[in-house]
Order: sequence, then structure tokens, then C-alpha cells
Amino acid sequence: MKNEGGNEHVVWHDSIINKEARQKQFGHKSIMVWFTGLSGSGKSTIANALQYELFKQNISVYLLDGDNLRHGINKNLSFSEADRKENIRRTAEVGKLFVDAGVVILAALISPFEEDRLNARSLFQPGEFIEVYVNCSLQECEKRDPKGLYKKARSGVIKQFTGIDQPYEEPRNPEIIIDSDNLTINESVKIITKYLKKHLCFN
Ligand code: PPS
Repeated sequence: MKNEGGNEHVVWHDSIINKEARQKQFGHKSIMVWFTGLSGSGKSTIANALQYELFKQNISVYLLDGDNLRHGINKNLSFSEADRKENIRRTAEVGKLFVDAGVVILAALISPFEEDRLNARSLFQPGEFIEVYVNCSLQECEKRDPKGLYKKARSGVIKQFTGIDQPYEEPRNPEIIIDSDNLTINESVKIITKYLKKHLCFN
């Protein structure tokens, strides 16, 4: 099998242990839970709290946070549309490895473009990719402005800021919508946990 770059000298090696065997051993399915939303919407906070909740329930879980990934694997990427695309692509590929490893993987990235999110979804089997839209009005995000970034974006110090001088495309078909203008972190985590339990054979 050729790799996607068309190199016929790169071959695929099958593993003796497959995803299903790992899931059986860990006692739960492995999935990607993809959080998308504006900066300041609460993606990272909710994903972190969800990670803790699942961890307490003995689920193998790990969080890939956009900000943190930009300190390592994605540190060479800017906030141009092309680099955001690459940011999403890399993160989704890493997430796919985690799913193959039997882990519930949470990813919290602004991921502002529908096409990039659909590309991410396409890497996974049906039912393996759960999109969580953390829906918070720009007005509220700007009011929260936890890192002072909106203020800098409004004054032109930061360019290409999502919601200010770059668009955020709302997800068309997310599995879960969290109304983060009005819900607490706890309430949000409960909604997501309930969905995951119902659909993913968690005890
Ligand atoms: S993306 O769109 O998915 O590639 O972005 P992501 O990797 O999630 O990184 C978003 C965090 O980077 C900080 N930051 C910016 N965000 C948006 N636009 C611009 N121009 C920008 N510059 C820096 C910001 O802290 C984002 O974190 P969150 O947690 O979303 O607030």
C-alpha cells in the first residue's frame, strides 16, 4: 500500500494487538471527543473537568489542548487559515493514534472552519468522533476575556483573531451543543458524560 504522499516504499505494518483487543482490556470504547468554540468559550475548562470526571471513573482518558499543543508538536504554526488547517489535521491524526491505543481522547481547539472539522471527523469510524460545540456568544467571550486577548485583538495588537478579524463557522451537525453562556462547568460535564455513557458502553 502506498502512503498518501504516493511513496510506494513506505509500507504499513499491522499490529498484533488491535484496537478492539485494547478496548476489551480497558473495559470501554475509545473515541475522540472534539471540542470547538470561540476563545474564552470554556472549551479547555470543560474538557479538563470532563477529563477529571472520566478519570475518576477509571476510564483511560487524555486531553489534547490547542494552546498546549502549540507549545510542542504544533509550535511552528501561526493563526493563518492554512496553519489552523494543519493544526487541526495534526491534532486529529494524533487523536486517531490515541483511539487506536484504546484511549478516550479529548481535543479542545477553536477549530474555526467546518471543512477542517469534517476532515478531522473523516479520519474516524462512524460513532468514534463526537463533536461538542461549546456555544458562547462573542459578547460573553469578550466580557470574560480571561487572557486579555480580545482587548489586544480589538486594538490591533493581535491579528487574525477568531471572531474579530477571522471568522468562526458554527458546526452544522455537532453531536452535543453546550450553551456555555448559561450553563455551569458542572452542568456541562454532566450533559457530556450522560451522552458518552449512553452511546459508549461506559458503566
Ligand atoms: S485553532 O484555531 O484551532 O488553530 O486554534 P487553537 O490551536 O485552539 O489555539 C487557540 C489559542 O491560541 C491563543 N491565540 C489565538 N486564538 C485565536 N486567534 C488568534 N489569533 C490567537 N492568538 C493566540 C488563544 O489563547 C487560544 O486559546 P483558547 O483556549 O481558545 O482561548
